Amino acid sequence: MKTIRDITDLKDKKVLLRVDFNVPVTENNQIDDTFRVKKQKEIIDYLISHGAKVIMTSHITTVSSFADLIPQFHILLGLEINFIKSVADIGKYFQNYAGPALLENVRQNEGEEKNDPEFAKELAEGFDLYINNAFGECHRNYASVSAITKCLPSYAGPLLEQEIVQLSKVIEAPKEGKVVIMGGAKASTKVPVIKNLINLSEAILLGGVVANDVLKEKDQDMGSSVVDADSHELLAGLDLNDSRLVIPKDFIIFDNKILDIGDETMHFYLDIVSKAKTIIWNGPLGLFENPVFAKGTNEIAQAIVASSAFKVIGGGDTISAVDKIGLLDKFDFVSTGGGAMLAFLAGDKLPGLEALN
Ligand code: 3PG
Repeated sequence: MKTIRDITDLKDKKVLLRVDFNVPVTENNQIDDTFRVKKQKEIIDYLISHGAKVIMTSHITTVSSFADLIPQFHILLGLEINFIKSVADIGKYFQNYAGPALLENVRQNEGEEKNDPEFAKELAEGFDLYINNAFGECHRNYASVSAITKCLPSYAGPLLEQEIVQLSKVIEAPKEGKVVIMGGAKASTKVPVIKNLINLSEAILLGGVVANDVLKEKDQDMGSSVVDADSHELLAGLDLNDSRLVIPKDFIIFDNKILDIGDETMHFYLDIVSKAKTIIWNGPLGLFENPVFAKGTNEIAQAIVASSAFKVIGGGDTISAVDKIGLLDKFDFVSTGGGAMLAFLAGDKLPGLEALN
């Protein structure tokens, strides 16, 4: 994979930079989690300081357009960011280049999700090179991370490199002392990680819906708790009695729903975490958005931070939970990937990375 160190001269080069600005946005159009945006500052500053002309492209799913968020990008990146409404306007923008710019939501183009080579060609028009710094989107076989690499000399940005190095490091870390914590809502993205890492870890601590699914398969009465209808198929091939797979024993229940791990489970988990040498965490252990059900998640976060383990977290909700209690900078690595981090940990080939190879 070529990286930006392989680019010999950036002076006046027109660079298409793929970033991941898919951020949560409040009802008042405020960016609710700024972590991903700030992580792009390094590459943008680097390109500008080397004389490149930069146009960024990204998708966003929480709102349809980037238009109203531009002033916030300006503040978060400490740079004036211009806005280009359509791919067809890129040529005109370069004629009177006025500093870095962000293109409108790339998913507004039909060809993006189809990985359409014609759309990729259109997007590449007028650029000299392409840099992918959007690790969070590398699990998608979409035009702005995949087909585009057939149209321009293509390079991995520093964030891609960091993510690959750090996530590989946790996968390859010795089995003894390796603890994986999986919680949150989307069990279908967590189970493949558990299947891939169970033989490479000492313990996998479960919470959230993935724990509910396992409990359901073990014939526990789940009341009105959230469970996946297809939990049986989802968990097929996983030995639910494997002693390394640790499931909650007691719970905080409200309205007949499991909403957090109970105290006994929490202390059991805290003890395992305190002895760990490597910790990978994705997904809160309860409904942390409500402070009444945030205890398990908060205590685990504090225990991880207090441990001497190499600590990695990822996933929008986990980052937001940890950020809420001011502990985000205490982790050794915070992945910008949600689905992409999980796909990588599951051992999948990521189309965006394959395309750069
Ligand atoms: C994410 O939020 O995990 C990435 O931006 C990918 O978004 P997607 O799931 O909509 O492709």
